[in-house]
Amino acid sequence: MSKSIQIAVVGSGYVGLVAAVCFAEIGHSVVCVDNDQSKVAALQSGDTLIHENYLPALLQRYRNTKVRFTTDLSEATRASDAIFIAVGTPQSENGDADLSYVESVACEIARSLSSYKVIVEKSTVPVYTNEWICRTIERNGVARSLFDVVSNPEFLREGTAVADFLHPDRIVVGADSEPAAALLARIYAPLTSGAYYSQPDAIPGRCSASAPPHLLLTSAKSAEIVKHASNAFLALKISFINAVSNLCEATGANIEQVARGIGLDSRIGSRFLRPGIGYGGSCFPKDVAAFRSVAEQLGIDFNLLTEVEKINAEQKKRFLAKVRSALWTLRGKRIAVLGLAFKGETNDIRESPAIDLIEMLLAEGCSIVAYDPAAIERAQAELPPSPQLQYAQDAYAAATDVDALLILTDWREFAALDLPRLYTAMRYPVVVDGRNLFDPSTMQQHGFTYISIGRPAVYPARDLELAASAAK
Ligand code: UDX
Ligand code: UDX
Repeated sequence: MSKSIQIAVVGSGYVGLVAAVCFAEIGHSVVCVDNDQSKVAALQSGDTLIHENYLPALLQRYRNTKVRFTTDLSEATRASDAIFIAVGTPQSENGDADLSYVESVACEIARSLSSYKVIVEKSTVPVYTNEWICRTIERNGVARSLFDVVSNPEFLREGTAVADFLHPDRIVVGADSEPAAALLARIYAPLTSGAYYSQPDAIPGRCSASAPPHLLLTSAKSAEIVKHASNAFLALKISFINAVSNLCEATGANIEQVARGIGLDSRIGSRFLRPGIGYGGSCFPKDVAAFRSVAEQLGIDFNLLTEVEKINAEQKKRFLAKVRSALWTLRGKRIAVLGLAFKGETNDIRESPAIDLIEMLLAEGCSIVAYDPAAIERAQAELPPSPQLQYAQDAYAAATDVDALLILTDWREFAALDLPRLYTAMRYPVVVDGRNLFDPSTMQQHGFTYISIGRPAVYPARDLELAASAAK
């Protein structure tokens, strides 16, 4: 493999921690910095803190050897050739990205710069952040020849973060300087050359030695816009299919058939056309708002994004209306909620539509028993248990004696539920599925009333017979 490079990653959250262990996996030496002392101590002891496939094994393999953890950014800066900034860029009141963490990291790096370093924006940031980081470092007295700032956006998805990092669709490097672009190319060389994929113990995925990922070199500003535009486009795709699913409901068509029919057009593609209860997570809501805000500040009309957000918010209200129409009234009803995370295979509840819906149901006077395979602890911190909101040990315990069961997260575990067991546990076999995990006719055969997204509702065969005989 190519020569090892000394890398610092600042911020050890979903993006930073995954980047750090993956850089070690492709042969580099990494120091991971976080200003949260308890997080650093946990990582040093091998606790990943987040739920990600392959992460525990990689952390175990590299922790305190090829990846060390520290709170000391000055020391990490001095020890590294490239410093990746992966701290949070939360949404501020007006929709803008709050860049204060990025700014304070840039100031601290500036104080320790004494030889040439490449500073890399890994966090999702608006266009012009690169220029601001340069200006901030210069204002702190550092000569311009001592550093370059590069934009290298990260496209990993939570839940599949490690495999996404090591098998990317593309690697985007926005660099306005030749030496900085060359260093980034060397860092990613084990992936772009295909060498990593020839290793017998490489993490499996879509790339291979004969089909390695492509590195796209752009200007820094273009790379910043690539990241925001990618997330905004994916969010748009989801809102589009959600709007079409509403049309399907109004006409009796089936969104699964329609999405397949659209997606088979290779110009459109079938991914990110799953209808549901709206997108959530730490990226799409924040990045759509930030991109809209950037456009506004530049005097560009991008109201399309406002519509994307509107459809997304409406989708949760439509789901609540479905639950209400299935149960007639909501006050006093006991409801099982399967899923708290913003999507399956992660314990992240940031901007989770499931959490919003639980709050809406509680406000309507329902009592809830919730279950999630990994996110209960985090959900309890936000929504503490109460007589109205309990947390169950498994899906069947949550379903016991309920008036209806709601599926709010697309965990694989839920799609594999034992339907006869679920049926027996529930008081009334009513399932409202916000993620279309089941085939309606299977649910009907198992005796459920089954209401999903963009597909005709089905009722148990017995009810239909009763309705038919009542009509005679
Ligand atoms: C976040 C943003 O949500 C995303 O848009 C951006 O691309 C990268 O940062 P994530 O990794 O999910 O993604 O955030 P989070 O899990 O909050 O991790 C950020 C880490 O940075 C935390 O561990 C925090 O303690 C640390 N941090 C924050 C610092 O080390 N220094 C700071 O000044 C601020
Ligand atoms: C997203 C981007 O996909 C990733 O490239 C970027 O780096 C970070 O933001 P992530 O937030 O981890 O990743 O999850 P993603 O799989 O994109 O899902 C986001 C939300 O959209 C989830 O709430 C998910 O349930 C929803 N979604 C996704 C749909 O409702 N339908 C779909 O077809 C796909």
